[in-house]
Amino acid sequence: MFDRLSLLSADPILGLIGQYTADSNPNKIDLGVGVYRDAQGHTPILATVKKAESILWEAEQTKSYIGPAGNQQFNRLVLELILGDEHTALADNRAIAMQTPGGCGALRVAAELIVAANPKAKIWVSDPTWGNHVPLLGDSGMEIATYPYYDYESHGIRFADMLTTLRESAVAGDLVLVHACCHNPSGADLSLAQWLQLTNLCAEKGLIPFVDMAYQGFGDGLDQDAAGLRMMADQLPEVIFAYSCSKNFGLYRERIGAVGVVAANTERATAVASQIMRIVRGIYSMPPSHGAAIVETILADPVLCQAWVDELALMRNRIQTMRQALLDAMTAQGYGDRFHFITGEKGMFSFLGLTPEQVQRLIKEHSVYMVDSSRINVAGLTPTNIDPLVKALTAVL
Ligand code: LMR
Repeated sequence: MFDRLSLLSADPILGLIGQYTADSNPNKIDLGVGVYRDAQGHTPILATVKKAESILWEAEQTKSYIGPAGNQQFNRLVLELILGDEHTALADNRAIAMQTPGGCGALRVAAELIVAANPKAKIWVSDPTWGNHVPLLGDSGMEIATYPYYDYESHGIRFADMLTTLRESAVAGDLVLVHACCHNPSGADLSLAQWLQLTNLCAEKGLIPFVDMAYQGFGDGLDQDAAGLRMMADQLPEVIFAYSCSKNFGLYRERIGAVGVVAANTERATAVASQIMRIVRGIYSMPPSHGAAIVETILADPVLCQAWVDELALMRNRIQTMRQALLDAMTAQGYGDRFHFITGEKGMFSFLGLTPEQVQRLIKEHSVYMVDSSRINVAGLTPTNIDPLVKALTAVL
């Protein structure tokens, strides 16, 4: 049977972890996979996570099953974090969230939900989008199409083209996948005015937004980063969202996220919740407990929660500082005009605008690792690796 299966190449993003680990150069630089790093290049466990774990170690009483919906208190707290606790969809009791194994689990469960509800629905994703969106969503059998998004020349958003494509080619019932903030891979985000125009288009055409929120708090702040999604959830009858706690709680390997739905009314929301539980039971039965218990412990305690908000601000500000430091260093080499966009982009990622050949030279000749598209993880920059990075960049430009 297995003779029919060929050897596949490694995932374009995750494969970089192995390549980087195997490189014996002590001065290697990892700008590949999107994980936060501190000024020493480490991905620390947040102090608030450590604290929550110590509380759990003392207080946790059982490891019995939690059920397909996961941790109900986590579900409620995360929904309030995403929508804001006074959101109309919460007051109207038409929003639900359910714990999933990471943001990927949420995306996949949502895709199965969409296929169950409307097998003809097509999903429109940005060009470009995160490298795993198409495999993840496509494996559910859903048809995928792209809308124009990032302009590699101007480093802006092709917003008029995006709206034209959706207006002319999407049909009622189609989904539009939008990154809530910190667009992966470009770092170029919609303005609130653009979110409003997109919301209006969805209303006019009967399109359903599917918002992927993997970086809440890494752009401008928890509320600011959720403003577009909150607007859609307020003004549209149906919205789906996928949430990840990997980055903002630094819980990458714990696999903790949530799938969320805003439905037309309570009855529909309850029916959707039952469908999600059926899907979950058929794939992994129920999510793992530990990550949700950590997030619940932090969000439920006002003191711990404020400490986490502060830790998140430190991560966000360090990334922004590194953006400025890279621009300053490239400006000093005479490349300021070429890299001016870096400081205007949000979150972990930006494209450097290099060819795949230049990226391969950076990897092979300088041990500087990044995705082939020249997407860098800005959080991988440190005060000590900026100079060698700039040296390597100027050597291949
Ligand atoms: C990334 O884009 O690097 C992260 O979201 C990690 C991943 O799973 O691809």
